[in-house]
Amino acid sequence: MNSEKPKRRQRYSGKNPRHFSEKYKEHAPERYADDVAKVIAKGKTPAGMHRPVMVREVLEILAPQAGELAVDCTLGYGGHAVELLAALQPGGRLIGLDVDPIELPKTEARLRALGFGPDTFTALRTNYAGLARTLSEPADIIFADLGLSSMQLDNPARGFTFKHDGPLDLRMNPKRGQTASALLATLDRPALAALLLENADEPNANRIAQSILEAPVSTTTQLATAIHRAGGDDDSVRRAFQALRIAVNDEFGALEAFLQSLPFCLKPGGRVAILTFHSGEDRRVKKSFQSGKRLGTYSEISDDVVRASSEELRANPRSRSAKLRWARRSIPEE
Ligand SMILES: C[S@@+](CC[C@H](N)C(=O)[O-])C[C@H]1O[C@@H](n2cnc3c(N)ncnc32)[C@H](O)[C@@H]1O
Repeated sequence: MNSEKPKRRQRYSGKNPRHFSEKYKEHAPERYADDVAKVIAKGKTPAGMHRPVMVREVLEILAPQAGELAVDCTLGYGGHAVELLAALQPGGRLIGLDVDPIELPKTEARLRALGFGPDTFTALRTNYAGLARTLSEPADIIFADLGLSSMQLDNPARGFTFKHDGPLDLRMNPKRGQTASALLATLDRPALAALLLENADEPNANRIAQSILEAPVSTTTQLATAIHRAGGDDDSVRRAFQALRIAVNDEFGALEAFLQSLPFCLKPGGRVAILTFHSGEDRRVKKSFQSGKRLGTYSEISDDVVRASSEELRANPRSRSAKLRWARRSIPEE
């Protein structure tokens, strides 16, 4: 029996909790399943949770079979991993990677509670850039769902959102590397403008860079204020967060290293599927798969990107920008 006293819930003003930390029901979906279902039915993602994108399409493409080995390179909340794990039984295994030391243990515990023991599921806190070093044998299936999870995005303490004030951090692993505010302190106007343009296609990069560097910016709302002051709208703010996040986490560098290592990490006939959320990522995946096809590394690749169904677009706004591409490792001739 659990003798732990339930914690007193946080007080909040108004009828409904607004702040991330006040949404105590959404943080405990196992106890408040009906309330959480209502939030999802409204097309929203409950606090502390992530709704996986294009699960049906991912499963159709990867076609997991009993006994196979799969790697989910971006475990997140484990939404795709749970479905893959179920389809790999009996006898299959899934290795789940994530750089996030805060969310990974929670996801591991959730999957263990669902009955996936160490013989079927391994969780590793590591960057997918080093996938070839991480794996001791090639896999049948490799999957990656790039970018941020909703848990990371919604948590003000992590600095990914300007909806609430928080430190301008933006690191997926807060124990490593430089925060976004520390990075800003090292950049001059041309360098920051180039970063905004290259990582997020910001059309007013110069003006916005100038304004950001004029005032001290160490919190999320200070960054938003500096961008608004330069005439930028909320889309410009979102683009600036994206550009800084990509830089702080070296997202393009990690993706390129990952794409290069893929052929060595897949068994002959193995399948890879990658979900991307902006053009800089999709372009890199497309180019890498096309060059692999030309070189004979891949026997088949997706001709076009696969997009979310109209039903999913309505139910989960995050699926709007999702692009799915896949490739199949060729089988060497005898
Ligand atoms: C969009 S979420 C994945 C959500 C997951 N598919 C699900 O359904 O719950 C992306 C995850 O990838 C992780 N991530 C991002 N870049 C990474 C990298 N280079 N190596 C490993 N994990 C990474 C993030 O920390 C985040 O948890």
